[in-house]
Order: sequence, then structure tokens, then C-alpha cells
Amino acid sequence: MANVILCFLALICSVQSLDNGLALTPTMGWLHWERFMCNIDCDMDPQNCIREELFMQMADLMVEEKWKDAGYEFVCIDDCWSSHQRDAQGRLQADPKRFPSGIKKLADYIHSKGLKLGIYADVGTKTCAGYPGSLGHYKTDAKTFAEWGVDLLKFDGCYMPDWTLLAEGYVNMSKALNETGRKIVYSCEWPLYEWSHQEPNYKAIKGACNHWRNYGDIYDQWVSVKSILNWTANHQNILVPVAGPGGWNDPDMLIIGNFGLSHDQQQTQMALWAIMAAPLLMSNDLRNIPYKSKKLLQNRKIIAINQDRAGKQGYRIAEVNGFEVWERPLSRGGLAVAVINKQEIGGPRHFSISLATVTSCNPICKITQILPTYRKLGIQDVESKLIILVNPTGTTLLTIKPSKSD
Ligand SMILES: *[C@@H]1O[C@H](CO)[C@@H](O)[C@H](O)[C@H]1NC(C)=O
Ligand SMILES: *[C@@H]1O[C@H](CO)[C@@H](O)[C@H](O)[C@H]1NC(C)=O
Ligand SMILES: *[C@@H]1O[C@H](CO)[C@@H](O)[C@H](O)[C@H]1NC(C)=O
Repeated sequence: MANVILCFLALICSVQSLDNGLALTPTMGWLHWERFMCNIDCDMDPQNCIREELFMQMADLMVEEKWKDAGYEFVCIDDCWSSHQRDAQGRLQADPKRFPSGIKKLADYIHSKGLKLGIYADVGTKTCAGYPGSLGHYKTDAKTFAEWGVDLLKFDGCYMPDWTLLAEGYVNMSKALNETGRKIVYSCEWPLYEWSHQEPNYKAIKGACNHWRNYGDIYDQWVSVKSILNWTANHQNILVPVAGPGGWNDPDMLIIGNFGLSHDQQQTQMALWAIMAAPLLMSNDLRNIPYKSKKLLQNRKIIAINQDRAGKQGYRIAEVNGFEVWERPLSRGGLAVAVINKQEIGGPRHFSISLATVTSCNPICKITQILPTYRKLGIQDVESKLIILVNPTGTTLLTIKPSKSD
């Protein structure tokens, strides 16, 4: 009853999030999948195969190269870490050749750097790459992860014998993690696997998970980034209201610093992942990353938008003349605005924003351009028209903050 009244007063009822006190802002870190996939050939490719050294090197660099200072905290293992057999007690175990020290030692190492360790498992009978799944073993696996000192679990959705059991499986694992008493961020793929059958129950998902994948895996191409943005915008009426502190929509990894995106496109990914309040999980090679990509990923002003305390996910507000305009409400009446030039021919094009339509700007506001370069655009009023220039496939990102007239 009290809840009903509060909801009525607040006009918008926020959905209850998983009560583990975690992911109050979107998770930040590094995840091996998009860049390193299921490379287990350590004879041919020792530098890039999935083994403990890879994660230790990334952890070292996260500290040395100031990723940690920028907020990137989790070093996450994806699929292909485990042995094909459970141990004699029925527990998951790491591949003995590639993780000879075991996951607990790796967790200790990661923790000694002030970082956190993420691991991967699957709600069904097998992981997507065919390693042992957790169905029928949720309690054991949760306990194993907790004993190892794992801080985040990515729980995939392959090989669920009956899709109608997805909800139960994800909820059961959520309970099993809770019962361990260890604080473990729970990253689900529940809605992704449910969408092909029915519209997922996002209220239930938010009650069980800290973030959740809605749409297929990202890959190292601009068309992949575009299709994620398109899908998200087309479903924003469902997705945006459910996001908030403790529970986030996850549009998948940042592929900035790899091979497929131009620098303008990398800026678009970074800007829009900030607008979407997305987990910032880089999948790149921190040992070899272009300077400009590193600068972009560590840009504090963009990260501040992503991590804004109000935790409101942004949305697309307009598609005009080959531009898309997105906005995200920020705390203290601010607004982040991203303008993408979707036209993939020609040169930079002008876009004009009339500040009369921007509530943060009534009567006056302070505007800062964050991307493509930092520029203070000063105090503006409702009479102003702001004209920006946007490269093809690039994005101009602005913050607009209310200002006092005195
Ligand atoms: C488990 O759930 C309870 C009740 O929702 C919550 O108070 C507690 O903090 C949770 N514990 C962990 C470790 O997530
Ligand atoms: C979830 O837990 C309930 C209660 O223990 C059990 O009956 C059910 O079979 C479990 N479902 C799955 C998919 O693990
Ligand atoms: C965008 O999404 C709509 C609806 O989901 C779909 O019909 C369309 O093909 C998509 N366009 C692109 C370019 O992906």
C-alpha cells in the first residue's frame, strides 16, 4: 500500500531492482569475448589464447595505464575457461593446462591489484561453446564461484532444453548467488533468449539481475553498432523505464580500439553507450591499443555521463534529415544530447538545435561540447540556435546544464 502511494506521488513507478546493493551505476571493466573469443590454441597463439596470463596481463595494464583510475574495475572471463569435465565433487573446474593456478589464485591476483574478477557460465546444459552448463548445478556453481572470490557472473542462455524454463533458471541462479552471502554482480542474457518467443517480463528480470543482454552479440563492424542502436531505439518504450540504479540494459561490449570502426564510429559508440546508461565492458587488447581509442575510452566527461547518479537511460527523440538525436536526462536538471550523422556519403553536415525546445535551457543554460572535441559553448538562452557540424557516422555529444540568471 505504501508503495502504491509512493508510486502515485512520484507519478512514475520505478521497478524494484535486485537487492544486492551492486551496480548502482553501470558496471565498468574489460571482457574477453569479442576480441579473443574461444581461442584455446595456446601452442599456436600463446599471446592471445584464453589462459590465466591473458587476464593477469590485462589486470596489470588496467592499473598501469590508468584504466582503473578512469573507473574500469572488472576483469571478466567469458566462455571457454573451464574444463570439459566437472571434478569428482561435481564442481566446475578451470582447464588445467590453460589455468594451472586455478581461478581462486587468479581472483587473488586480480584483487591484489584492487580490481574485481568476472566469470562466465550458462543457465542451460552447455555453454554456447559447448563447455559444461549449470542446469541442475546452480547452487554448487554459485558456491564454487563465491569460494573462488568471483565478483561478477555473466550467465549465458544457450542449450536451455525448454525456453519456458529460462525465467526459472535465471531466478534460481540469482537466489543461489544471494545465498552464498558474497556480493556478486549478476549479468543475465535472459531477455535475449526470450525475445524470439515472447516479450520478456522486464519487471521480473530487473528483480533478479543487475544487467541483462537484450539483443545479439556485437561484432567488430559499424553495421553491428548500428543494428544495436536501431533495435534499442525501436524498443525504447519497453527498455528505458526499467533501467536504473541496480539494473541496466546491456547493449554488449565496447569494441573501441579494435579493427572495424573508424574513429568517428568509435566516438559514436562511446557517446551512445553513455547515453544508454550501458555497462562499459571493453573487449579489446589493452597491450596494443591506438592512443586515440585509449583517450576516448578514458574520457572522464563521457564516463561521467554514463555513470550519472540519477541512472536514467537515454532515448532517441528524433530522426531528421539523416540525423538521429538522442538525449539522456542527467541529475540536477542537466541533459546530455547526442547527434549522429547517419548519412554515409559526403562530408560533415550542419545540424541546428533550437534551445527553445530544451527544458534545461529555460531561461538560460551552460552548454559544453564533449565530442568530437571538448569545447565550452558558453551560456545560452531560449532564443539561441546552436549549430554543430557532424562527420558522417560520427556523433556530436553535448551536455546542457541549467544555469542561474542573476
Ligand atoms: C540477499 O537478499 C537479501 C534480501 O533481498 C538482501 O538483503 C541481501 O543483501 C542479499 N545478499 C546478497 C549477498 O546479495
Ligand atoms: C528452480 O527451483 C525450483 C525450486 O527449487 C525447482 O522446483 C525448479 O525445478 C528449478 N528450476 C530450474 C530451471 O532450475
Ligand atoms: C531497424 O529496425 C526496424 C524494426 O525493428 C527494422 O525493420 C529495420 O530493418 C532496421 N533497420 C536497420 C538499418 O537495421
